[in-house]
Amino acid sequence: MAGFGDPAFYGDRWAAVYDDHHRQMDPGPAVEFLAGLAGDGRVLELAIGTGRVALPLAARGITVEGIDASAAMTDPGPAGGHPLQLADRAGPDGQPGRPGLSGRYAGWDRSPFTAASDSHVSVYQRA
Ligand SMILES: C[S@@+](CC[C@H](N)C(=O)[O-])C[C@H]1O[C@@H](n2cnc3c(N)ncnc32)[C@H](O)[C@@H]1O
Repeated sequence: MAGFGDPAFYGDRWAAVYDDHHRQMDPGPAVEFLAGLAGDGRVLELAIGTGRVALPLAARGITVEGIDASAAMTDPGPAGGHPLQLADRAGPDGQPGRPGLSGRYAGWDRSPFTAASDSHVSVYQRA
């Protein structure tokens, strides 16, 4: 049996209950934040899971691609699932991008990140 060293370990165990378990976690603020960053560009979600964030982003007309280690997470289920498209991480010129931190917030609402913050949303942009 595969253990914690297997990238699919988490997803394969959570897939059946993931959406139910996260039903109270509104993806709306994250979707709003990410849609603003995406503008008219495309989105690549690393560890897309069941599409909890990706599907509402795509519903806004944004092209979303995702990768995930667990086929169980990405398989269409009762909630509909999503078509998985594999994408590489190279930049438009074929070279890996060199991201630099361009902003850090305490939450999706862009509230200031301070020493007292217990969460962060960090934005990296290719230099
Ligand atoms: C907590 S879920 C998050 C899913 C989704 N991003 C969301 O916000 O609902 C974590 C996801 O990461 C995936 N994952 C874990 N390790 C991974 C790895 N090494 N490569 C790709 N995906 C991975 C899992 O299969 C799972 O779908």
